[in-house]
Amino acid sequence: MKTVWFTADTHFGHKRIPLYARRTFCLDEEETARLEGSSMLIRPNWAPSWSSVARMDDHLFEQINLHVAADDILWHLGDFCWSKRSEAAAAARRYRERINCRNVFLVMGNHDSDEVAAAFDKHYVGHEIKVGKVNIVLSHYAHCFWNRSHYGSWMLYGHAHGTAEDWLEAHMPGRLSMDVGVDNVARLTGSYRPISSEEIGSMFSSRKGCQIDGHKPKPPALRLQDSGYNSEACQTHKKQADG
Ligand SMILES: [Fe+2]
Repeated sequence: MKTVWFTADTHFGHKRIPLYARRTFCLDEEETARLEGSSMLIRPNWAPSWSSVARMDDHLFEQINLHVAADDILWHLGDFCWSKRSEAAAAARRYRERINCRNVFLVMGNHDSDEVAAAFDKHYVGHEIKVGKVNIVLSHYAHCFWNRSHYGSWMLYGHAHGTAEDWLEAHMPGRLSMDVGVDNVARLTGSYRPISSEEIGSMFSSRKGCQIDGHKPKPPALRLQDSGYNSEACQTHKKQADG
């Protein structure tokens, strides 16, 4: 049976991504010391060497090909690679060819041009799939509302490189959504690799879901004082509007 895998934010060939996402695994000793000893905000022009970026690419491809079989399905939820616009089509094709899986589909991220998307058999801005009995909404961006979330559908995304997960969990406890980008999967598993639907299912098994869009059968009563509604100000405004 084909396993369905998800990944995002590989940023192949992106010279500054080890700095932005703090991917120290590909840096040499001097670069690691520079990165760990300073904030990127005070060193805006610094970037690792191209050989470190090549090491990052090699490692990410190795991890994909180690986990994802040729017949499996791999959804890439955006920010596939980085290059000059004039070289994007050839670069994306070259990177795509390094993935052994035959079924790789792209949900476009903010760094993915039409030239990059053309390297994939199918590409989407956002998409919905069904894996077993589970509906899954796919986007580069995290949603607070998504289709059928009140029936237990999942929402998978990238873009935040793992930095939004704690905030989202605090504001949407029990949510059935996850950043499947390599940086967040490394945070969860210790490896910069894709994550399968089975793995996500077992991580979600103890979560109850978080419906905040009012579609569940008995939505909690909206407390006006919590919503920012000010009846006095509203009445004043109404009187002014009525003349
Ligand atoms: Fe990204």
